[in-house]
Amino acid sequence: MPVRSRHHRPLAERPPPPSQVLIGRTLQHGKIRAVEVGLGESGEIVAVGRSISGGRRHDLGEAVLLPAAVDLHVHFRSPDARVEGENWSSGTIQAALGGVGTVGEMPNANPAVSTASRLVERAERGRGRLAVDMVLFGALVRARDVAALGRVAGALKLYLAPTTGIDDPVDQDEAGELLRSAASTGLAVTVHAEDPAHFRPLGNATNPVEWDSARPLEAEEAAVERLLRNVPPSLRLHIAHVTSARVSERLRAAGHSFEVSPHHLLLHGRPSDGARFKVNPPLRSETERARLWEELTLGRVPCVASDHAPHDPEEKEGPFSLAPAGVPGVGTLLPLLLARARRGELSLSVLVQAACERPSLWFGVPGGRLLPGHRGGVIAVDFRRIERFHASRFPSSCGWSPFEGSEMIFPVEHWRGGERIVEGGEYTGRPTGSIVRPEYARN
Ligand code: NCD
Ligand code: ZN
Repeated sequence: MPVRSRHHRPLAERPPPPSQVLIGRTLQHGKIRAVEVGLGESGEIVAVGRSISGGRRHDLGEAVLLPAAVDLHVHFRSPDARVEGENWSSGTIQAALGGVGTVGEMPNANPAVSTASRLVERAERGRGRLAVDMVLFGALVRARDVAALGRVAGALKLYLAPTTGIDDPVDQDEAGELLRSAASTGLAVTVHAEDPAHFRPLGNATNPVEWDSARPLEAEEAAVERLLRNVPPSLRLHIAHVTSARVSERLRAAGHSFEVSPHHLLLHGRPSDGARFKVNPPLRSETERARLWEELTLGRVPCVASDHAPHDPEEKEGPFSLAPAGVPGVGTLLPLLLARARRGELSLSVLVQAACERPSLWFGVPGGRLLPGHRGGVIAVDFRRIERFHASRFPSSCGWSPFEGSEMIFPVEHWRGGERIVEGGEYTGRPTGSIVRPEYARN
C-alpha cells in the first residue's frame, strides 16, 4: 500500500541530536533574527535556537530560513507521462525550485479519481517520481464510493461547475449527500464553488473580460451562499480559488477555510489578452483584484495556492473559445509573493502563514513551521537575489507563464528529508518524495 500516514514525534519524547545545522536568519515574532536550525537524521526539525551544537554545519549567511510552502491545489496530470505534458516528476521539481515542500494533486484526471482503486493505481504509477511530498485528492462523484475513497485519499474535492476534465459536475442536490458522506471521512474537502445556473453561454467569449462576464462573480457568490446554508457542521470545508474580497469576508465571517491564487491577486482581465489568461474562475476587474490583494495584505486570506494548470502552449494559442482554462504556477507561487514582501507590499509573516502554516494545519500535512517536530522542509531565501522570471527556468513541457518577465525571488536552497534538493537555485535532488495523508485521517 503506497499511501501512508506520517506522525509527529510525541512532545514528551526527547528529540535526537541534529545531524546537520543550518545557520542563517529567520522570522521570529515578526522580526528577522539570527538563527540555527538543527535537522535530524530523517530531515525533521529537532532544534531551533541561537546556537545549536553537534552535526554538520551549513552557513547560509544573510539568507532567511523559512518553512517550505504547502501548495494544496495543483494539477500535475499524468503520474508517469514520459514524452509530453506535465507529469509528477516535472511538476514536483518545479515545486521544489519554488520552495514548495508539499503539493495537493487534484483529481480531475480522465476518468476523474473518484474511487479508491483509481487513486491507489495513480499513487503506484507515481511511485519514485516525486521530488517533494504529495497529498492526493479524491473526487466526490458518487456517495457510495466516498467511504472507501476516504480511507486512501489525503483530501477530497467537489466540483460544482464544469472545468478542465469535469464536463458533468454534480448538481446541488447530489452535493448535499456527497458532503454528508465526506464529513464522516474526517478529511478536508476543497470545493470548486461556481454555480453554473449563473453562467452565460461560455462559447461566445473571445477574451478574458468576456470570460469574466460569462462566468461572473455572481456565480461564485451564489455557490458559496448555497454551500454555507447546506454544509454539515462537522465538515472540514475549504473553498478553492476565491476571487473577490466580498466572498473572502463572507467565508471568514462563517469561519471557513479558503484559498486565493496569485493570478487572481496580481492579474486582472484585459480585453487585449488571449487564452493564456483564460482560467476558471476568470480573472476579474482591476477593482476586484486590488480589493482581493488588500485582503491578503491585511492577513484576512487563510491560504494561498497556485491552482497550477500546465496546459500546452499550442492549446492556448488557438481560438479563445476552444482553449482550455488554467495557468501554470506551482513554481512561481512563493517567488512572486516573496518579491512583493521584499518591496514592502506584503508582510513576510502574513505570507508565511498563508503559504505554509495554515494550509499545513487545515489539511493536517506535516510542516509549514520552523519548529521542533516538524518535517515539512526548510528553504533559504536571499532577498537580494531578485530575478526577472522566464518560464524556460523550469523543466516542463508547459514552457510559458502568465507571469513571464515578473520580478521573483527563488529560494537559494531547499532542504527536505535531510537532503539539499535545491542548491544555488538549481534542483539537485532525487525523487524521494512520498504520498502523505493527514494525521487526523480516521483509519
Ligand atoms: C484547472 C485545470 O486545468 O485542471 N483549470 C483552471 O482553469 N483552474 C481546473 C480547475 O481548477 O478549475
Ligand atoms: Zn484547479
